[in-house]
Amino acid sequence: MKTALITGATDGVGRVVARELGKQGWRVLVHGRNRERGEALVREIERAGGKASFLAADLSSLAEVRQLAEAVKKATSRLELLVNNAGIGTTGHAPGRLTSKDGHELRFAVNYLAGFLLTYLLMPLLKAGTPSRIVNVASAGQQAIDFDDVMLTRRYSGADAYRQSKLAQIMFTVDLAEELKGSGVIANALHPSTYMNTTMVRQSGVTPVSKVETGAEAILQLAVSPKLEGRSGLYFNVMSEARANPQAYDARARRQLRELSLKLTGL
Ligand SMILES: NC(=O)c1ccc[n+]([C@@H]2O[C@H](COP(=O)([O-])OP(=O)(O)OC[C@H]3O[C@@H](n4cnc5c(N)ncnc54)[C@H](OP(=O)(O)O)[C@@H]3O)[C@@H](O)[C@H]2O)c1
Repeated sequence: MKTALITGATDGVGRVVARELGKQGWRVLVHGRNRERGEALVREIERAGGKASFLAADLSSLAEVRQLAEAVKKATSRLELLVNNAGIGTTGHAPGRLTSKDGHELRFAVNYLAGFLLTYLLMPLLKAGTPSRIVNVASAGQQAIDFDDVMLTRRYSGADAYRQSKLAQIMFTVDLAEELKGSGVIANALHPSTYMNTTMVRQSGVTPVSKVETGAEAILQLAVSPKLEGRSGLYFNVMSEARANPQAYDARARRQLRELSLKLTGL
């Protein structure tokens, strides 16, 4: 039985992806920070004949990311799929600049840095599970990172914070593909769909224009489709390969981001 870890599976598109993988015969490690909703999803997957377990962690704490990786290692010796999906939208929290438990800008921390750390901590499991895949759920909303103010201390908006965190995920994906060449682990990123009907979209006051199922199908394409075999470092706009913000293809910017991320995570 293949094993997948889906972060942010207690709501939105991650929930649909977890349910679908359960139906397809995967063992699903459901991650979230809300135990009640996580365990309800586990029961739902099991009722449909699947196998699942819930792992709790607040990704706004790097210590909890490390605990999550330890819990995954206790649950399985190999992973065939990691979907870095958990995220915070452009609004929906108190106004003003928000920071993580470690003092980093909150969206950079939760949407990007947590996935960066988690991916490296789980790399031995992904390598044990080859052919295996990493899917980074990014967005079409992308903004070049200003390396003089990555933590947005000078000029802050939730939308800017969201967009730079989403581009950071794509830059990380391009790096991962290079690093993992020939290893049997592939990494791809995507914009799942535009304004799906999820909590983060509803909280931002935008009228949803697409279904969660559309985004789930796009994530599942990168996660399981034979079409992606051996293909890595790509960015998809829903179902089609696309170009991301030019900074994703700037090796110097990627190196800067990588060095900063290694420093911040203590890797
Ligand atoms: N919706 C869209 O139209 C859209 C468009 C482009 C990209 N995306 C991306 O798709 C992904 C999923 O978004 P969604 O629309 O499904 O949003 P959602 O319904 O708000 O779900 C987000 C998930 O992430 C979890 N999460 C948030 N902060 C967390 C934290 N600090 N620690 C642990 N888990 C945390 C949430 O947990 P709780 O249940 O506890 O809140 C939830 O499970 C995100 O990466 C988003 O950027 C969405």
